[in-house]
Amino acid sequence: MINAPKGTKDLLPIDSYKWQYVEKTARETAKAFGISEIRTPTFEHTEVFLRGVGEGTDIVNKEMYTFNDKGGRSITLKPEGTAGVARAFIENGMANTALPAKLFYITQCFRYERPQAGRLREFHQFGIEFLGSKEADIDAEAILFAKTFFDKLGVKGLTLYINSIGCKNCRGKYEEALKDYLKSQYDNLCPLCRERFEKNPLRILDCKNEDCKIITANAPRILDYLCDECQTHFDKVQTYLNLSGVEFKINANIVRGLDYYTKTVFEFVSENIGAQGTVCGGGRYDGLIKELGGADEKGVGFAMGIERLLLVLEASGVEIPNENKISLYFAPMGEKEKEKAFSLAYELRLKGIACELDHMSRGIKAQFKYADKLGVKYVAVIGSTELEKGVVKLKNMQNGNEEEVAYANLYQAVKD
Ligand code: HAM
Repeated sequence: MINAPKGTKDLLPIDSYKWQYVEKTARETAKAFGISEIRTPTFEHTEVFLRGVGEGTDIVNKEMYTFNDKGGRSITLKPEGTAGVARAFIENGMANTALPAKLFYITQCFRYERPQAGRLREFHQFGIEFLGSKEADIDAEAILFAKTFFDKLGVKGLTLYINSIGCKNCRGKYEEALKDYLKSQYDNLCPLCRERFEKNPLRILDCKNEDCKIITANAPRILDYLCDECQTHFDKVQTYLNLSGVEFKINANIVRGLDYYTKTVFEFVSENIGAQGTVCGGGRYDGLIKELGGADEKGVGFAMGIERLLLVLEASGVEIPNENKISLYFAPMGEKEKEKAFSLAYELRLKGIACELDHMSRGIKAQFKYADKLGVKYVAVIGSTELEKGVVKLKNMQNGNEEEVAYANLYQAVKD
């Protein structure tokens, strides 16, 4: 037997209706916020992520699925959605259309990580990107959108953390102060954080290692180093969040794992799904489009892992409705009756009724058992008497009522 590769999962019908429901709700919420769908390729030139996500990040250093194609080009399966969307924004001249461009995507992503609950090598993101505005209200709108979506689904127990990591003007000063503070403790940092010390000192702040946590507990806070512009921006984000009643906590240790962020960063975190509790993460990335060769356009967005979202839905006790259920099952009792069932099912399917009929030559008792498994609302029995009279014996499986219904009236009888 050949198994699926480690860190990947098959999505089977017993679960696929949950994904469809989440995706449908995502699309509906996006529509209400004026956000349109974008689909970018599954793979990009590796450079998009080297320049976009950044060479100092775990994603680029350790986790990318990178290979040379037959033409000798370095190709990478997308580890996240933002860099590809920014590339598409530039390539398709979207800066010349009405801005901001408000885009969403539902896409698979690939990261070579150690699989565990909520962490896969192929996973799926629902994300949005708002491109072309530097205003703080659009950061708040991105956050409000995520909150609205979670509320619509009935997700409970998420905490929203926000922070500002400043811009290239103020972050440099902060990094110096942080390194000054950490210098004397350098030898006590974990090996990864010792690597981060020069390349990406901010990441030391969200290290999960207990020793590193103790060392950084009293470290200087980025929020005390923001320049006036970044401070005003961060204040405004909070004003807009307060306006719409979004509860949040300021957490100066939220720094995110990708290099492109500037100013606002945020995460929605659950305590109920184990170690991989960050369901949604995002922020502003004012340098990304320029970094990828575009104009000086700003952006903000987020992505949430759909697998993690489903874990949180389960932990919240949400019963996801199965909208794929068959409503009518035909139970023919012989070959001629089956021919009739076959034609009737087709007629009703054309009118939008989800029907099924026997394809296994089961006896009538087994057919009822099967119909029960399908969870149908009605069973239409066709025996020789019914065939002669041009009717079906229609059983309502919810209340047990039975009635004879002429073929011509069947649609009316089952349509809701
Ligand atoms: P990220 O924090 O790397 O951000 O990923 C976003 C979300 O994807 C995470 O919060 C998590 O739910 C999910 N995720 C990440 N890695 C895995 C994995 N290995 N298995 C399962 N789920 C995972 C980004 O990707 C940014 N592009 C978000 C963004 C959009 N920022 C601005 N715009």
